[in-house]
Amino acid sequence: MSKDKILTLLEEHKGKILSGNDLSSKLGISRNAIWKSVNALRKEGHQITSIRNRGYVLELGSDHLSESEIRMHLGESSSTHNILILTETPSTNTYIKEHKDLPDNTVVLSNTQTSGRGRLGKTFHSQDQGGIYLSLLKVKELTKYDTDLATLAAAVATAETLDKVCGTETAIKWVNDLYLNGLKVSGILTEGTIEFESGTLSSLIIGIGINVNTERFPEELEDIATSLYQVTGKKSVRSEIIGHLLRSLEEHLRMTKDNPEELLRKYKKRMLYLGEEITIHRGNEIAYGKLMDLSRKGHLIIESEGKTLTLNSGEISIRKREIRNE
Ligand code: BTN
Repeated sequence: MSKDKILTLLEEHKGKILSGNDLSSKLGISRNAIWKSVNALRKEGHQITSIRNRGYVLELGSDHLSESEIRMHLGESSSTHNILILTETPSTNTYIKEHKDLPDNTVVLSNTQTSGRGRLGKTFHSQDQGGIYLSLLKVKELTKYDTDLATLAAAVATAETLDKVCGTETAIKWVNDLYLNGLKVSGILTEGTIEFESGTLSSLIIGIGINVNTERFPEELEDIATSLYQVTGKKSVRSEIIGHLLRSLEEHLRMTKDNPEELLRKYKKRMLYLGEEITIHRGNEIAYGKLMDLSRKGHLIIESEGKTLTLNSGEISIRKREIRNE
């Protein structure tokens, strides 16, 4: 479709003017057809300015989820990804689970989610159009990865991407939450399906939610959540973040098997509460301890009442322990 081709050309020259003549000779269509397609692209939300007698420019800040722009930032490995962009869906993780025949490396993105899911049955606020709601499906050669470390790999990949693209200093709260200035900016939900007969893992779904351009959160989240926009004061281009993130995800997923020591080192460097007193929550139960280290399997090593315990991520979450002086 000529509209898609025009968008690709504008994205390749983002922020620069492309003349109607150039576009029309490159694509072999009339200038009038170009004008019509540009108008259609504008209606879809792309910020394209017409400059009289000079041509069209896709504004640098234009933030519309776009497959070609994602691929441009994803670079070499782009051809291995199957990218689907949805307007709205209950949850991108659920979408993948319900569409059984999706190929390996499918990335599902949605502009909003109506029932974004988090760990431990929590919800993830996904009504804002300025967020990234992404799920990556892996079905092939899962033995290339140590899936026990997949959530940690996704956390490091996301933190590094945000810091590189947006200039932040992202911290990780074990196991799957990313924090900026003490507030949650991103969450990860890793899920798998098991093949009934063999009992082996048949698919891995890595779901990542990032609050990017969100200006305001519902009142109940104001003291808990933040967005990249609230922290940096700048709007980001989600497709750029996504392209870099997909590249970083592949690199860190491979590290789970090829270089887990380095992955754990990177994770610990960003990890909140190391060496501090924490509370450990399992359902309604609370326990106390000091967070000593991370095990080679990514489990927490806690010192509590003179004992050293290793805790798995299955059902627990942690918080910093506020010790009040009475
Ligand atoms: C958490 O906060 O515990 C994890 C949140 C994970 C949210 C992402 S958004 C994309 C994917 N789809 C979902 O329903 N959840 C994940």
